[in-house]
Amino acid sequence: MAAVRTARPAKHSNDAAVCQFVSAVGALTPVFATPATRQVPYNAGPMSAFRPTGDELTCDGVTLAAIAASVGTPTYVYSAATLRERITALRSGFGDYPHALHYALKANSNLAVVRVVRAAGGLVDANSGGEIEVALRAGYGPGDIVFTGVGKTPVEIDQAVALGVKTINAESAGELERIAAAARARGTVAQVALRVNPDIASESHPHISTGLGTHKFGVPITEARAIVRDASARPGLRFVGLHVHIGSQMLGLEPLRRAAGAVMGLARELRDDGVSVEHLDLGGGLGIAYEGETVPSATMYTAALVDVVRPSGLTLIVEPGRAVVGPAGALLASVVDVKPRGNGTRFVVLDAGMSELLRPALYGAYHRIEAVTGRAGVPVTCDVVGPICETADVFGVGRSLPEPTVGTVVAVLDAGAYGSAMSSNYNRHALPAEVMVDDGAWRLVRRRQTIDEQLVCEEE
Ligand SMILES: Cc1ncc(COP(=O)(O)O)c(C=O)c1O
Repeated sequence: MAAVRTARPAKHSNDAAVCQFVSAVGALTPVFATPATRQVPYNAGPMSAFRPTGDELTCDGVTLAAIAASVGTPTYVYSAATLRERITALRSGFGDYPHALHYALKANSNLAVVRVVRAAGGLVDANSGGEIEVALRAGYGPGDIVFTGVGKTPVEIDQAVALGVKTINAESAGELERIAAAARARGTVAQVALRVNPDIASESHPHISTGLGTHKFGVPITEARAIVRDASARPGLRFVGLHVHIGSQMLGLEPLRRAAGAVMGLARELRDDGVSVEHLDLGGGLGIAYEGETVPSATMYTAALVDVVRPSGLTLIVEPGRAVVGPAGALLASVVDVKPRGNGTRFVVLDAGMSELLRPALYGAYHRIEAVTGRAGVPVTCDVVGPICETADVFGVGRSLPEPTVGTVVAVLDAGAYGSAMSSNYNRHALPAEVMVDDGAWRLVRRRQTIDEQLVCEEE
């Protein structure tokens, strides 16, 4: 696990790369000038970790081909510099307004990723007992953890109460009762917030929208006032905040402003009732430019939220996941077959599919796919697919790549968020290896799973 490799002599020095990142503070993702970008490597510009150096794609100056040759594929590669840059850009966007940035572990909870986030000053949002455990092992204390989750088990509630996490974001009146009972049984008091559902459209993909009245998340905001009044009087509970998260991959700020305004209104009503809250947790949701879309910068995002919340003076909590780790990761995969098609295109079959990166199959999500070497080759049109026995196992249709052959390594970009975290053993694929590139060197931060490890919990 501790294997450390030094990068091949890089044509780009890593210092130069870091300078470029620093100069990009405030612009979370590059805004590409021309929208006709499907084939254009816009993130391969100076602000991206993954960019060409000569004919090779590199991560912060480290050649991805070297990593693939040493570790094999499928392998996720992360840029520590990008993670730091994106945490720093968000944190500094709040200026001196009281805030806390709780990175959403669900996006990627590899211990090495989480440790970089911690060193950069990010706290955490855990969505399960397992994620709480990861946070503790990464060095966080209970006071650094907010615990969210639409279906917390009795064991998870007791775990969070016993630890004394900073806040449990409760999903319902019933859950508040169960948290109170767990706290009383332990002779302690649990700090709680209530997740409200403001019935606001996130204007992103329906599968990652969470703030409409028809969605399962939180309590209807119209019922929240009475629930909070009741909870704040309940022994075992200390009511500290309101929580809202209306969706993910949002490219506009208006839904976020509206959600912030809705919880501000509720906070005012509660104050009139004599219930004071200490913080407003506005969740995550900031999108990234998978296809060259225009996305709000870190500064625009934080300013939009602070503008709404400032009159209250309440501490502002955010829980970004994708915006922190998405562009910091790529999935390396090798071509295992090329199948010509009658129409002049070809199926390019990779050794990675929906078991390693589910997003394209689950949401029809777009990820750029780029050759790692031989980038100057003559481009051909490809349907890039995985090896899994599912028709939905397709990474990209009609993509342009330099003529791929068996063994060609490609990088699926912007795969740091909800990539490895959603990977599975479907078709008995091994969980992929993961590599961290930091300061001109790379190291394995999760080795590839073996078949023995897959079977260890099963009958002999
Ligand atoms: C409650 C909550 N907070 C934060 C996040 C992170 O969202 P994102 O990755 O879009 O920033 C999620 C994602 O689903 C979530 O459910």
